[in-house]
Amino acid sequence: MKALQLQESGKLVITEVNTPKPGRGQLLIRIGAAALNKRDQFICQGKYPGIQLPCILGSDGAGKVEKAGEGVDKAWVGKNVVINPNIEWGDDPDVQQKGYSILGMPTDGTMAEYLAIDADRVHEAPEHLTVEQTAALPLGGLTAYRACFRHGQIMAGENVLISGFGGGVAQFAFQFALAAGANVYVTSSREEKISQAIDMGAEAGYNYKAKDWHKNLWKTRGGFDVVIDSAGGDQINQFIQIMRPGGRIVFYGATNGLPASLDLYRMFWNQLTLQGSTMGNDEEFRKMINLVGAKKIVPVIDSVRPFEEGVEAFSDMEKNRKSGKLVLKF
Ligand SMILES: NC(=O)c1ccc[n+]([C@@H]2O[C@H](COP(=O)([O-])OP(=O)(O)OC[C@H]3O[C@@H](n4cnc5c(N)ncnc54)[C@H](OP(=O)(O)O)[C@@H]3O)[C@@H](O)[C@H]2O)c1
Repeated sequence: MKALQLQESGKLVITEVNTPKPGRGQLLIRIGAAALNKRDQFICQGKYPGIQLPCILGSDGAGKVEKAGEGVDKAWVGKNVVINPNIEWGDDPDVQQKGYSILGMPTDGTMAEYLAIDADRVHEAPEHLTVEQTAALPLGGLTAYRACFRHGQIMAGENVLISGFGGGVAQFAFQFALAAGANVYVTSSREEKISQAIDMGAEAGYNYKAKDWHKNLWKTRGGFDVVIDSAGGDQINQFIQIMRPGGRIVFYGATNGLPASLDLYRMFWNQLTLQGSTMGNDEEFRKMINLVGAKKIVPVIDSVRPFEEGVEAFSDMEKNRKSGKLVLKF
């Protein structure tokens, strides 16, 4: 079968590999579409812990069940499915266990024609989505779900700021916060992405590249109850200034690195929480898929390309011009 394999740091190729066979308890999925995440890019660049190569990349995928291994209900065959990328989260819903990993390094991922995977990782795809839209869901949707609801505790009527609206995870967080009935605001580096967010239901948006962008936010009905962020860096101090007392800042990434300082004075006085979040447990994955189905949420897709253009899609990801997920279709 054809697969997008990272053979060594920076050497990503489409190559022929053996088609996997479903083992006991596994399903063989014919992948219809796979989506890219920042994680795949970081692995390619050698900026991810514990890299083991060669490996087929890809945490996001959807397709059709082709075969059921021993011990698995044959009724799965022919179903349209989505794959939970968690591997061994463990029993504690609060935190992943030691040994937890994510599909697509070290285990072979979704960027191949077939994937053999444990049947308990496989869920029926939401009926209202195409295979490309379904493929965009898993990692970003799961990360956003936990950040918004377990940690952000977003409630109807609250003011929520989603930073970096162009990000794949951010756009899920945006849609989930809207679905929860929050007043949702965004930041972005690009005006067209802010307009896109407003068209989708944002109250307003701000360009985080503008000097003092956060000062406008004082006018936002008294500040924010929740900020969902993945950029980190010094901007965290700007968020601290625009929170309502008791506000929650949830971050699931630190693309811009560490802040040089942290305004602890304002944090303790205003009873603020700064909360890290990563992926989500299996129960949260199930709830995320249910929410997407119930509210008919449609992932924002930047572009769908043929699988043969997979290597180019990785270079485009670095440009930050995209808005939404990059999807590869077989
Ligand atoms: N912990 C986890 O489980 C987990 C899961 C997924 C992702 N992550 C991390 O989260 C980050 C984003 O991942 P992704 O897949 O959503 O990436 P992505 O789709 O490539 O999005 C990156 C976005 O970051 C935004 N950004 C850059 N600088 C920013 C700043 N100063 N302030 C606000 N936004 C800024 C940009 O938004 P605009 O284009 O709107 O300017 C950009 O589009 C990465 O660091 C990734 O490793 C962590």
